[in-house]
Amino acid sequence: MPNKDALLHTRVRKDALVTPNAEEGRLPDTGRDRSDTGENEMMSTVDELVARSNRLGADPTTTNFAGGNTSAKGVAIDPVTGTEVELLWVKGSGGDLGTLTPAGLAVLRLDRLRALVDVYPGVEREDEMVAAFDYCLHGRGGAAPSIDTAMHGLVEAAHVDHLHPDAGIAFATAADGEALTKECFGDRVLWVPWRRPGFQLGLDIAAVHRAHPEAIGVILGGHGITAWGATSDECEAHSREIIRRAQEFIDSRGVAEPFGPVMPGFEPLPEAQRRERAAALAPVIRGLVSTDRRQVGHFTDDPRVLDFLSRAKLHELAALGTSCPDHFLRTKVRPMVLDLPPSASLEDAVARLRELHTAYRADYAAYYQRYATPDSPPMRGADPAIVLVPGVGMFSFGANKQTARVAGEYYINAINAMRGAEAISRYEPIDESEKFRIEYWALEEAKLARAPKPKPLTGRIALVTGGGSGIGLATARRLAAEGACVVVADRSAPAAEQAAAELGGPDVAVAVGGDVTSASDVDGMVRAAALAYGGVDLVVNNAGLSVSKSLLETTEEDWDRQHDVMAKGSFLVSQAAARVMIAQGLGGDIVYIVSKNSVFAGPNNVAYGAAKADQAHQVRLLAAELGEYGIRVNGVNPDGVVRGSGIFASGWGAQRAAVYGIPEEELGAFYAKRTLLKREVLPEHVANAVFVLTAGELSHTTGLHIPVDAGVAAAFLR
Ligand SMILES: NC(=O)c1ccc[n+]([C@@H]2O[C@H](COP(=O)([O-])OP(=O)(O)OC[C@H]3O[C@@H](n4cnc5c(N)ncnc54)[C@H](O)[C@@H]3O)[C@@H](O)[C@H]2O)c1
Repeated sequence: MPNKDALLHTRVRKDALVTPNAEEGRLPDTGRDRSDTGENEMMSTVDELVARSNRLGADPTTTNFAGGNTSAKGVAIDPVTGTEVELLWVKGSGGDLGTLTPAGLAVLRLDRLRALVDVYPGVEREDEMVAAFDYCLHGRGGAAPSIDTAMHGLVEAAHVDHLHPDAGIAFATAADGEALTKECFGDRVLWVPWRRPGFQLGLDIAAVHRAHPEAIGVILGGHGITAWGATSDECEAHSREIIRRAQEFIDSRGVAEPFGPVMPGFEPLPEAQRRERAAALAPVIRGLVSTDRRQVGHFTDDPRVLDFLSRAKLHELAALGTSCPDHFLRTKVRPMVLDLPPSASLEDAVARLRELHTAYRADYAAYYQRYATPDSPPMRGADPAIVLVPGVGMFSFGANKQTARVAGEYYINAINAMRGAEAISRYEPIDESEKFRIEYWALEEAKLARAPKPKPLTGRIALVTGGGSGIGLATARRLAAEGACVVVADRSAPAAEQAAAELGGPDVAVAVGGDVTSASDVDGMVRAAALAYGGVDLVVNNAGLSVSKSLLETTEEDWDRQHDVMAKGSFLVSQAAARVMIAQGLGGDIVYIVSKNSVFAGPNNVAYGAAKADQAHQVRLLAAELGEYGIRVNGVNPDGVVRGSGIFASGWGAQRAAVYGIPEEELGAFYAKRTLLKREVLPEHVANAVFVLTAGELSHTTGLHIPVDAGVAAAFLR
């Protein structure tokens, strides 16, 4: 029986210990004196670990996004026994060091984790140990433990960092990396030959640490680095020392042009031409790499990329592929590389890209066939994730924008690592068979299976004109919430920028200022979509304005303005977007926000109503013309959307209220009263219709107009 003191103790420590494993992973402020409870120690251990991780993860050359992991060991009170237990806090699976919070840490009992050594069945069955980690969790365990947990637990140092620094990977992938490590670091940093991450790698590193207490860390062949220290600061200092000394060695000993000389004719195009060509190629490339599944693109013309693409060794090195597991899981084993100079005509470049894509798919399928065993997961798709176009830049692809961007960032890490390796030696990544073992690892497959189901519009790129206000803004919000990347285009650039920022910034939405009545502005909108996300799949022709005047009062200018913005503007947008959609070959959606007034004839509405009728017929004409490309064209006919509408706020509301003989503030209620459903129509209701038309359920519908007017019998479609 525990004595009374122990019970009291246990209660105090129960609070202290449960919380770190729950949501926050840190201790609550109980207002008690923590000096004798171990809470302070735990707080500082976790806080120090998180702060160190954030510092290390802030620089992508120190470790790539979501790459590497860090840990700390410490003592806490077990709420069950009231006695001390040793714990390991380690970054959980899939987390990112730069943005790590206590909730991203897995918390394990060190005694149980280390006891696994006694039941370890050997390297052939090391994957089983991952499931065993669950039996070592402390409390609710926090985040899911990653494959590298063994390394952190088995190394007998209080603090451990495992990182993927470019300079470290340069050593790790140098043909004579082991000798160079010795030359650079002596016995301070040792070499551990390539081994797939797992329990055995943890045992190997722990053995090196035990045998060489003077060492501060290791270079992991083909992979990255691991460093350790008695304190958090010492561990971080050791990580940084390895990276700094590796880079200094590369800088002082490396050859001047590791990637060989610049190939004449393959120099980068001037910026404006580069961007123009990138925008023209992006939809074609996106269409090709979406053969197995739709992908979103990211483009960069980072100087490091352009330099690599201009050099003699480009093709030889690109063919060797990336090495660090984190890199090739996102970049695919190797990129696709255009072998034409930027002076080639666009037609020739496109034709060659098509040939190279066919060859890439055949090569990838052959790679799968070469290494697949009967229990391998099925092939995940043979399209490239990275496409390199000399003189122009790098296109990277993924299921969503974030994945596409990160794939590109990883390839820049890989370029840095290749440059370092070639500077001091010869770049020699891990064997292709090992890459296959990781790419089609059962544990990797399980991780992918755990990924959340994509949203209905994930992978689709939307362009919403007039997206800065009212119905357009509500539509942009809805499309983004359903997973689409959104280009918010508006004559008011600040309104577009505010909307894009609200939607979540460049991984979700970008802004373009522009007037839909100008063909060159419209080209700019579509170009922005191509550069930001790779193309366009879904266009919402929403930009509009309204002037309520009788026939006799309507000026020529009134007429022209409304027809310019709505009839001509949506024609220009549809035309520019259809060009891109046809180049992509992925079908598409064009939705017109028309109006009840395209069918209903009321007073004082001749210019607006006629412009809306023009838009309504464009829906039918384009549905008839674009069907063969899988492009569906539909319309939404709203009515009486007063709240949130800039049109109503800027005069139209007052004019309509005057027409109906009511105060302006009662207009919304007035419109609601005259509907069949007696409901007010809000911008979100119109956005709902756009979503329904484009999310997939109406895949066999084109040329349709959906009224969103709460029921106006006079506007029924016949
Ligand atoms: N509000 C309604 O009751 C209602 C009813 C039927 C149809 N509509 C139609 O819905 C659309 C949106 O209306 P809203 O009520 O949200 O209006 P709104 O004024 O709130 O939004 C219109 C947006 O379009 C932008 N815009 C205007 N002219 C442009 C141009 N030339 N180029 C680029 N952007 C331009 C504006 O800057 C504004 O951000 C319009 O086409 C309108 O005719 C509205």
